[in-house]
Amino acid sequence: MRRLVSETRLHPADLVLPIFVREGVSEPVPIGSMPGVVQHSLASLPQAVSDAADAGVGGVMLFGVPEVRDARGSGATDPEGILNVATRVAAEASAGRLVVQTDLCLDEFTDHGHCGVLDHLGRVDNDATLERYREMALVQAASGSELLGLSGMMDGQVAAVRDALDAAGLTGTAILAYSAKYASAFYGPFRDAVESTLEGDRRSYQLDPGNRREGVREALIDLEEGADVVMVKPAGSYLDVLADVSSASDVPVWAYQVSGEYAMIEAAAAHGWIDRRRAIVESVRGIRRAGADAVLTYWAVELAEWIRTGDAA
Ligand code: PBG
Repeated sequence: MRRLVSETRLHPADLVLPIFVREGVSEPVPIGSMPGVVQHSLASLPQAVSDAADAGVGGVMLFGVPEVRDARGSGATDPEGILNVATRVAAEASAGRLVVQTDLCLDEFTDHGHCGVLDHLGRVDNDATLERYREMALVQAASGSELLGLSGMMDGQVAAVRDALDAAGLTGTAILAYSAKYASAFYGPFRDAVESTLEGDRRSYQLDPGNRREGVREALIDLEEGADVVMVKPAGSYLDVLADVSSASDVPVWAYQVSGEYAMIEAAAAHGWIDRRRAIVESVRGIRRAGADAVLTYWAVELAEWIRTGDAA
């Protein structure tokens, strides 16, 4: 009876696995603050993509960890840069079984760690960054990314990337807009994962955690600019924003269960303070219930397996 009347079902196809790929390593490197998650090498990446596809996961979101960084994030637009090479490798391994997606942001590639380029006063230069995002979009699409994850929170980024894709005739490449992305402490472990060099914070371009209406406003602007999917991030502490965006949006709404959300459950479970599987299932189910059509989660493959074996009820 509970199964029959359940309002929220989990399905592997509604899960997306974020994957880190590090340049210059021959073995996967564990991430201290994210037990169970690794920085993949180019050699270990195909198996990770294949495992996700076998589990029925809907997509993978790729993040690159370059060896060298500079002020303008040159590695991001170099066809031989780690993210673009990894995209080609992942696209081949996927062979159309899942959607290969890429993080379109400069923070992994800049030596100052910001999501954009800086002006002469050291402030993030919104419009100069849009030019870099346009170039990134073309390289990522050419490398085989099917869905560009615009996570930099620059104003006008969706319109700029849409225009760049259209002008190049790349009408088959879709845009996932991280629309309501809050300036959050829960990204902490991710910054270890990509070895971020950020000093300061991102409060001048990410949203203030207290602002609910503003999250919806950002999503509506991105829809207007042509986003194919809009996202709320983090997920667990922003379920009200997610519910609001979900009722306002006429395109799919996704949520990102971020690194800190992952680390908290893993840490509590490692201490025996929480039932790991139940907490994972409940956390993702809650995000789906609040209105997410799909969820980016580091547990995507494991959860997909539990769904298949009936252990995610
Ligand atoms: C930016 C980006 C971040 C995350 C995804 N894309 C970091 C940030 O904005 O500081 C965080 C994801 C996570 O914490 O799991 N490229």
